[in-house]
Amino acid sequence: MTVTGSRHVGSALDRVDAVEKVTGRARYAYDNAPAGLVHAVPVQATIARGEILEVDVDAILKRPGVVAAIWHGNAPRLPSADEELAVLQSRRVAYRGQYVAVVVAETLEDARNAARLLRVEYAAEEHDVELRADHPRMYRPERVNAGYATDTEDGDPDAALASAPVVVDAVYSTPAEHNNPMEPHATIAEWDGDGLTVHEPTQGASSLRASLGSLFGMPPAHVRVVSPYVGGGFGAKLKILPHVVIAALAAKQVGRPVKLAVTRRQMFAVTGYRTPTIQRVRLGAEAGGRLVAITHDVYEQTSIVAEFAEQAAVPSRMMYAAPHRRTTHRLVRLDVPTPSYMRGPGETPGMFALESAMDELAIACGVDPVELRVRNEPETDPESGLPFSSRNLVACLREGARRFGWAGRDPEPGVRRGGRLLVGTGVAASTYPAYRAPSSASARAEPDGRFTVRLAAADIGTGARTILAQIAADTLRTSPGLVVVELGDSALPSAVVAGGSMGSASWGTAVVRACEALRDRLEAAGGAVPPGGLEATADTTQEVRAQEPFARHAFGAQFAEVGVDADTGETRVLRLLGVFAAGRILNPTTARSQFIGGMTMGLSMALLEESIMDREFGDYLNHDLAQYHIAGCADVRDVQAFWVEEDDSHLNPMGSKGIGEIGIVGTAAAIANAVHHATGVRIRDLPIRMDKLVR
Ligand code: MOS
Repeated sequence: MTVTGSRHVGSALDRVDAVEKVTGRARYAYDNAPAGLVHAVPVQATIARGEILEVDVDAILKRPGVVAAIWHGNAPRLPSADEELAVLQSRRVAYRGQYVAVVVAETLEDARNAARLLRVEYAAEEHDVELRADHPRMYRPERVNAGYATDTEDGDPDAALASAPVVVDAVYSTPAEHNNPMEPHATIAEWDGDGLTVHEPTQGASSLRASLGSLFGMPPAHVRVVSPYVGGGFGAKLKILPHVVIAALAAKQVGRPVKLAVTRRQMFAVTGYRTPTIQRVRLGAEAGGRLVAITHDVYEQTSIVAEFAEQAAVPSRMMYAAPHRRTTHRLVRLDVPTPSYMRGPGETPGMFALESAMDELAIACGVDPVELRVRNEPETDPESGLPFSSRNLVACLREGARRFGWAGRDPEPGVRRGGRLLVGTGVAASTYPAYRAPSSASARAEPDGRFTVRLAAADIGTGARTILAQIAADTLRTSPGLVVVELGDSALPSAVVAGGSMGSASWGTAVVRACEALRDRLEAAGGAVPPGGLEATADTTQEVRAQEPFARHAFGAQFAEVGVDADTGETRVLRLLGVFAAGRILNPTTARSQFIGGMTMGLSMALLEESIMDREFGDYLNHDLAQYHIAGCADVRDVQAFWVEEDDSHLNPMGSKGIGEIGIVGTAAAIANAVHHATGVRIRDLPIRMDKLVR
């Protein structure tokens, strides 16, 4: 059964949890206060590399309210942990801001005060925190994020570039960027004998449970992760983080429930960020703009304690038809905090480079940038040779051009004035893979006509609760108002993370199958629900593994109009318009919110976001939202998202592709391309700052 043609999927249902959230009834992790609670405040390293010599525990234990002070010298040992999670397990300091101790006290104030006064002695060593493409310790990782091959090569790109009539050869760079969800991380950890319960805002309760189980050497069934509401994640809440380990360790040590709230300032060192990138892109083309060669070489950083290899060159493998292609990723381990997932890892920085280079190629060939992309549309996935399950980039470009008013655009840069402003327009393509992963769900019918659907999915603000109710309602042939969706708890049927834009596709499949199984049971029972209710479960492992080979991706086209102050270089995005092809749109209200949210984050990336490395101290300098700028309301003037109808039967029962990340992909390039059109200045190094424009 598919839910195509259904009544509720595709309709603009309001968020089912909206009232709980706006009235403050929704209980977030930090809101929990079990009896006997104590507060933990971690202490962060003030050196970027070296050893902890001594921590003055005795002095701090004499302070009011202090219950414990834990560091490597007295911490419970973890049976198994990788280096990043082996918190308080070694004297080594691998990055500035790494947790070196934690103080536990009766009140938050007592804990904070004692943590501030705790004396930690270090033996500092010289640190190396600077990413350079020619760093002598650059290495080739085994794989890059999401399991992709590190390098790929097809044909003979060097020869093709040497003989191509038109060549673009440029280096693009993106700075480190920090995820800043509205809700900072917070853990409440509580042991009950052998069992551990953790309240934690997470993008994946099932996977956090598995991580905690293996870390503490116990069966996953002994761990429960409770996370019904999450105030944004963007990748920062995707995997287990060191503060969760500290909270659990501290709770074990003191034998009481522990609350640990990570502050906004602490987040800049301990909850992940997007690696800075240096990317060389070379495009070789015929005079008319047909690509013959693409090479994309990426240089990035990771930390000493963990490898995270952002897959930035991966979109260059499948975007355009070019017979000769090469992509590479190189990493260097620096004395820096560990980079991690941030909305659209890989595609986001990678498409800034590729789509900027495509704009440079359009100019070099004298071809309209929309037309250039249309001319390079591949028949099949250039990388795998597989057919695309659906690919509507051209439709997005055409529809976007029409809505934006692209026709008749004068390509000449730096010639349009509106008062003090130089005005220009730009375009870039977007893409994101349509993943799906195994999940399970249960569906239950009550005698009063109501239904409950349960699975350990996460609604991180996306609207997952709402669309799962719509999907269940259609499958059960009832209304969403009669379906309660319970999620955000590892005690529920296991489900994949809210990550990789695969939540809806993965959980939706499980919900459809569980609801179908329940319908079968209802029919077998003659249509009447027995007094005790009826329940059915489903697991989609088989179905997902057996799916036919296709190249599955969502596409989009982003159009930007900018005004750049001719004297100061201050840049404003006057208009941003995106058109996306992402399968069936399950709920236009929540989908629009995802698209314009991603585009806004892309605008923020283009103009503002930049974590600045302090080379002397070896850490990112800007540790708060006063210094790390994210776009505010005044920066976001006119952002519009549309989509084209896409009927793709090779995806999942809903016919949907993920939409959580594609909105940010390509946005920064569209804006940089518009800035070039406005000013004649090509900014290849984000963000687009005034000092780079005015020389
Ligand atoms: Mo996303 S960065 O996969 O949460």
